[in-house]
Amino acid sequence: MEKNKTKIVVIGVGAVGATTAYTLLLRERADELVLIDANQKKAVGDAIDMNHGLPFLGKTKVWAGEYKDCKDADIIIITAGAAQKQGETRIDLLKRNVGIFESIMTEVLKYNQDGIILIASNPVDIMSYFSWKKSQWPVERIIGSGTLLDSARFRYLIGEELNVDPRSVHAHIIGEHGDSELPLWSLANIAGTKLKLTGDQKEKIFENTRDAAYEIIQAKGATYYAIALALDRICTAILRDEGAVLNVSTLLKDYHGVSDVYLGVPCIVDRNGVREVLELEINEEEKALLHRSAEKLKGLIETIDL
Ligand code: NAD
Ligand code: LAC
Repeated sequence: MEKNKTKIVVIGVGAVGATTAYTLLLRERADELVLIDANQKKAVGDAIDMNHGLPFLGKTKVWAGEYKDCKDADIIIITAGAAQKQGETRIDLLKRNVGIFESIMTEVLKYNQDGIILIASNPVDIMSYFSWKKSQWPVERIIGSGTLLDSARFRYLIGEELNVDPRSVHAHIIGEHGDSELPLWSLANIAGTKLKLTGDQKEKIFENTRDAAYEIIQAKGATYYAIALALDRICTAILRDEGAVLNVSTLLKDYHGVSDVYLGVPCIVDRNGVREVLELEINEEEKALLHRSAEKLKGLIETIDL
């Protein structure tokens, strides 16, 4: 591959992976887009289907590949593995997805040592931690999608309640991408002004944010459009060397006293991955919830072989 070409590999072309690849294609995010799946026929079918759209788009080269195609990839997105069925939590996927990641990471690492790995498979914080340990790469190059999607849901719901464009709502969900995540109401604002929301409104907005995936999975079996846009947003920040602040999952080192666990927090993301973790000025109640989220995940990490 010529050095000036950008290449993104998507591993796991199911609901999330295929939608992500299509989003990357529509936005002409890379010159080369490689689709890999254990079900090779699905990847081949998706690649053919996407190629047939190229007359309406730019010049992206899309193909169903093999692990050797990870060579020279700028970003490798992993969306492979088991997904929640109705009634399951993200944590219920842990054992199955660790097994799947063991084999995927072994293959990826044979062919790529200097790209960025972006993980969406659940439980995403633990899968990211596992991948970081397995790769022994610098931590900034193994990124989980974290609470970027949750923060988007949160901003959307606040925007709906206050009739304000969600892009103008500044509000964060941090911690686990899952049931122990927490809203940072103390910092939420619109143009620096406090949100005019009652306690009941706040409670409902947070519950709807935290439980959004359950609602969508119950309705249609999977979530994929918003996560695809979130993954595209992270790829954009990386490829354009933006220095954008995004709530991705990264290794915490004494973050309000929390260490050695991947969690979603605001990070500055650029061409090298996570350049900096931003320690927000959160209140005591929020700190306690963050510690609770970290303890939950640490307990689960202890149950897997690293
Ligand atoms: P899916 O079942 O539709 O797709 C999973 C794909 O992975 C399938 O195509 C399957 O063949 C493939 N796969 C399985 N084992 C593989 C292996 N060893 N190598 C390569 N490919 C393999 O599931 P989905 O709805 O696309 O969800 C994928 C993952 O993303 C799940 O873990 C889900 O929980 C997670 N997810 C995360 C977020 C987030 O915000 N981080 C959002 C939505 C979904
Ligand atoms: C989500 C997935 C299921 O949509 O993690 O939040």
